[in-house]
Amino acid sequence: MYFAEDFIEKVRTQSDIISIISEYTNLVQKGRSYIGRCPFHNEKTPSFSVSEEQQMYHCFGCGVGGNVITFMMEKENLSFMETIEELATKANIPLEYDNNKKYNNREVLLKKDIIFELYKKAARFYYYNLTRNAPDYVKEYLKNRELTEQTIRLFGLGFSPNSYTALYKYLSKEDVTDEILIESGLCIRALNGKIYDRFINRLMFPIISPTKKVVAFGGRVFGDEKPKYLNSAENPIFHKSNTLYGLNLAKNANHDYYILVEGYMDVVAMHINGFTNTVASLGTAFTDGQAKLLKRYTKDIVILYDNDNAGQKATLKAIKILKDNDFSVKVLELKNAKDPDEFLTNFGSHKLKNMLLNAKSDVWYQISKIQNLYNLNNLPEKVKFLEQTAEIIANLSSSIEQQLYIDEISLRFTIDKKAIESEIKKKIINTKDNKIVYENHSKKVDLEVNLLSVLYHNPNLYNEISQYLFPELFTKGIKQNIAINLFNKESIDTKNYYSIEEQKIISSIIINENMQNIEFPVVYKMIKQFTKGLNLSYYKKLIYSDINPEKFNNLIKRKFETQKLNIIPKNG
Ligand code: GTP
Ligand code: MN
Repeated sequence: MYFAEDFIEKVRTQSDIISIISEYTNLVQKGRSYIGRCPFHNEKTPSFSVSEEQQMYHCFGCGVGGNVITFMMEKENLSFMETIEELATKANIPLEYDNNKKYNNREVLLKKDIIFELYKKAARFYYYNLTRNAPDYVKEYLKNRELTEQTIRLFGLGFSPNSYTALYKYLSKEDVTDEILIESGLCIRALNGKIYDRFINRLMFPIISPTKKVVAFGGRVFGDEKPKYLNSAENPIFHKSNTLYGLNLAKNANHDYYILVEGYMDVVAMHINGFTNTVASLGTAFTDGQAKLLKRYTKDIVILYDNDNAGQKATLKAIKILKDNDFSVKVLELKNAKDPDEFLTNFGSHKLKNMLLNAKSDVWYQISKIQNLYNLNNLPEKVKFLEQTAEIIANLSSSIEQQLYIDEISLRFTIDKKAIESEIKKKIINTKDNKIVYENHSKKVDLEVNLLSVLYHNPNLYNEISQYLFPELFTKGIKQNIAINLFNKESIDTKNYYSIEEQKIISSIIINENMQNIEFPVVYKMIKQFTKGLNLSYYKKLIYSDINPEKFNNLIKRKFETQKLNIIPKNG
């Protein structure tokens, strides 16, 4: 099913970008724009800007940008069609499908829809192979790991057959190209040019988004081969660092806290033992993006990682990320079992439930880890212990919380409160310094984009600028198209459908406060820098393009003039 262009345009123009983005971050009006902290990356000072007039957003910190449609697609990981449906519903516009309509200039957006469809088909294929067609060794494995029919259904588990091309052959029956099968991460092209399945002879765990779409798979071998687990490659619908395993199930009940585990099998075991508030990151360390995702569902987390060195290190890292995202965090340490799955098998859910009641606060967990490093009966070691402990307390944002911990630490470790407090003060000063340095990291400057932005915001400078610059100097594609618009004194067509990458560029041209009301001498410096970056091979390429020789000579001449750097504008 499709929507007609007119309908899409109606939905876009009747969706208020300010109120939609406000659901994700606090926006404050500042001049012609609204400013806030970026909902796509972690930041302390706002660099995210939304223009009401242009109905576009842009972040000068991480570079995201676009219109209300790309915002919803990226933020909620929806397909293009779903985004339109969602926005139409929000704006009370009745849905009007138009099945005769095929879009030509929107392949990039439609690609997501195709890949969603491929994952749905692949999940069915794998599920069928596990439930109807599994060889004995697979059945045996399911039995050993107590994976019942019910569990298989709940998680949609599957089996990728022991063949190089089972899925490829199955999906090739559909009207899809090899390219998209490869881009989806379900198939790979080998060096010999042939296409093979990515997952061969593995137990398949579909990774399902909160909107209930299969976006990737994790596949486990049945024996001891390496790698034990394999994930889908990153693709337009799957970004590992913004995805959590089990969230599709966990979000159904309104849990007041969530449990974070390491592995697929841990999530499965936790859920079937009644801990339906469990999620896992996908084999890699817990990320800021995953914290942002979780934040929509809960403010409280219990970390329940494997009981080995790697698990302890990962716990400390996850604490840091969660605290930076204002979660309240507890840690449950397992004893006598390597992971939650094994613990549940050996000791049962009742035991785990009791332990959860006594999970340590993140602060005590960290202090206990430091305590393990030092002999507190040895004075110099106790000093080191105090220094490191103070660092943790210094990072707490609430001073009441700080005071409570100071009291408790003083009691438990017989350390004078004053000593703890003065140690904490030192740390606070240090951390503040670090933060300033971190936030001043230089933002990547794209001269081309800045110059186009100057032209967009300062039409009065057109005469000056057009003496040195002309559209052909800009990189072919979106930048050159916009240059053509601006040099022809046309407006930029924000209504036109561009890819998400292209929207980033458009939004950074349109939303760029720094380029407003700029003086020509400043622009002139930018032009100098820009033309310095152009080299002759670029001009050589122009010869063979559609530019006539006369125009080409002019180009060279103008380049030469510009590069002398001390030219004075002809009319100025
Ligand atoms: P079982 O051995 O089946 O109980 O799995 P597990 O979930 O307990 O695995 P383990 O503790 O070894 O690893 C935890 C998680 O890390 C897994 O669930 C995977 O997400 C990930 N992982 C483990 N091994 C690999 C690997 O070889 N490659 C990748 N990409 N991820 C892995
Ligand atoms: Mn395990």
